[in-house]
Amino acid sequence: MKMEKFEPQKFIARQIREICSTVKEQKAVVALSGGLDSMVCFCLAHQALGTNAIPLFLDTGLLRANEQTDLEKVLNRFGVELQAWDKREMVFEALRGKTDPEDKRKAYRDVFYKILGQALRSYSADFLIQGTILSDIIETQKGIKIHHNVLQQAGINPQNFGLVIIEPIRELLKPQVKRLGVALKLPPKLLRTYPLPGIGMAARIVGEVTPEKVEIVRKATQIIDQEIQSPNIFQAFPVLLNDRVTGIVDGAHTVGLAIALRIVASKDSLTARLYQLPMPKLEKITGKILKEIPGVVKVLLDITPKPPSTIEYV
Ligand code: XMP
Repeated sequence: MKMEKFEPQKFIARQIREICSTVKEQKAVVALSGGLDSMVCFCLAHQALGTNAIPLFLDTGLLRANEQTDLEKVLNRFGVELQAWDKREMVFEALRGKTDPEDKRKAYRDVFYKILGQALRSYSADFLIQGTILSDIIETQKGIKIHHNVLQQAGINPQNFGLVIIEPIRELLKPQVKRLGVALKLPPKLLRTYPLPGIGMAARIVGEVTPEKVEIVRKATQIIDQEIQSPNIFQAFPVLLNDRVTGIVDGAHTVGLAIALRIVASKDSLTARLYQLPMPKLEKITGKILKEIPGVVKVLLDITPKPPSTIEYV
């Protein structure tokens, strides 16, 4: 779909009609991650189905700090109560011992959809609505990486998980989803938030994912979010590397952790390049990470473009 032909209001009306005619009088669970794509889908579903659209937040333990509270605030305006399921233990258990990026993604995908299958049964819902976008599908089909949320297009039958999936924005790339967000009058903070895949911090931890490592990445994410917000940056986030590196603490030798900063400009995430932040800003972020996160002794700047790199590390 070409940008200039995209008309948000027409798209919204068409999707509402489609959701209505598919779901009819039944119920649909909308999987919310705290990001823009899934919230746009909830708005469409809510307009189509009213209270038969059930907003569900799975606390996987891998998302940003405050994700659930921020979501609750946005949903307040619909007069709808967020259904929150704490599934941290189950997700960490599924990821335990996995170090290969694709193994991690597959393990996450399996546990994620298993839980969503349970959710549908528990709410007597017949459909799952989720915010898959075109770049997720393209990358999975091209074999670049398995996006956790892509099933049908990856040749997996959602019925295996007891699911019938609706993806209202699967034809769109990020800039068009942002235009929908504006048309749906979503809060500016949500429109500005950097994309975070459902697999969340696990995409930003090289090697095994543990709650302790997630906490480190989450803290560094907060620092970056506080320090840089520019409409020209597509994504800015930290990545925890897997190797122990040498450093100095209190004048003595130590081995500690290394964090890479990934700060990219991109139109639609299919290609990306370094967004050049001024050096003093980079030094400030580095200083804060080193001061506020014990154990980190090195901060690196990743300057690779996509391709050949991807934006995320996993
Ligand atoms: P990569 O790392 O492939 O990421 O360059 C491209 C864009 O997609 C996001 N991303 C995902 N989104 N499920 C999603 O919904 C996923 O499994 C996933 N993996 C990566 C990534 O943040 C970037 O914006």
